[in-house]
Amino acid sequence: MPESPYLLIDLERVRDNYRTLHAVLPTARIRFAVKAAPVPELIALLNEQGAEFDVASIGEIELCLGEGVEPARMCYGNPIKKAAHIAAAHAMGVRRFAFDTEDDLLHIVEHAPGAEVECRFLSAAPESTTPFGTKFGCTPGEAYRLLVRARDLGLIVAGPYFHVGSQQLDPAAWRIGIEQAGRIVAALADKDIRVGSVNIGGGLPISYTQAAPDPADIAAVVTTATAEFLPETAGIVIEPGRALVGSAGTIHAEVVGVRIAPDGRRWVYLDIGRYNGMAETENEYIAYRFVTERDGDPVDEAVVAGPTCDGDDVLYQRTRVMLPTTLRAGDHIQILDTGAYTASYSSVSFNGFPPLTVHVSGAERE
Ligand SMILES: Cc1ncc(COP(=O)(O)O)c(C=O)c1O
Repeated sequence: MPESPYLLIDLERVRDNYRTLHAVLPTARIRFAVKAAPVPELIALLNEQGAEFDVASIGEIELCLGEGVEPARMCYGNPIKKAAHIAAAHAMGVRRFAFDTEDDLLHIVEHAPGAEVECRFLSAAPESTTPFGTKFGCTPGEAYRLLVRARDLGLIVAGPYFHVGSQQLDPAAWRIGIEQAGRIVAALADKDIRVGSVNIGGGLPISYTQAAPDPADIAAVVTTATAEFLPETAGIVIEPGRALVGSAGTIHAEVVGVRIAPDGRRWVYLDIGRYNGMAETENEYIAYRFVTERDGDPVDEAVVAGPTCDGDDVLYQRTRVMLPTTLRAGDHIQILDTGAYTASYSSVSFNGFPPLTVHVSGAERE
């Protein structure tokens, strides 16, 4: 058994998740957001399934190339990139890029001539559980203007692109985004630009302690909205990260200690915390489920914290986490649905605690 803590990813489950998404949105191109879990075996499996890949850096491009992904199946989807990295990606064969500013567009024109582009606009969707805020995306009007400019500068217009925010619990968010995208597509048609695809981003949620809508619920909204607001010629790209890998991962951890603080609250310290995998507990956004070897014993509320000397390395102190009162140092604890945004965020050995290691099981190659 690997040393605790570690993340175990069930590749069989990833394949099931991929097939479920494909079944509910059969005409959509599925583009895996590599950042959610940049794990070589997982990339290889999704490549075999026919997925495309959303890459955000040269490192992610190299990872995908190493697993045999054709560069034509990658999209450099990060709107924030150095001109030198656009040139390097182009030299490696990547021909599709996302952007949201004129500066980035001009860099693409210069360093990736003839590339296909998607312009990310900030949709009016409601906030998600882990929102992007206004970090990415121009206004829809600016997206229209920039896509016309892209065509005039010799690029191929893929189409508009939006992301409703990760762990988006409101299916109506996609309807809002698709309606906005539809207006951009119609305006582009007036300029004789036929959009090849509308990228409706990631954001598909999974159930943690809070239940999330099923992929089928979201697919129903997407299907209705695309029929209503988009021409038949515009294909759909979806860019899931969490929905493909989140439920496939389990973190195996250990209780380091239990203590009653001077204010009487019980603290449970784990060997995993904010800096070695549990980054999405920031602001207590994501409330993971715990399984302990003492489940069935009486439970009581606990503050759950990580192992470092850092005061912010606390997973939950406002969220009501109920854990067995009998829990003690050395007990094993599992954290469920942790396949996405855990190990990939855990890349620095803060305070001497190594980044989370990843192991895979299941799914022989086909
Ligand atoms: C550009 C882009 N696409 C797709 C995703 C995947 O989002 P999710 O994991 O919510 O599906 C992200 C996540 O941050 C992203 O930044």
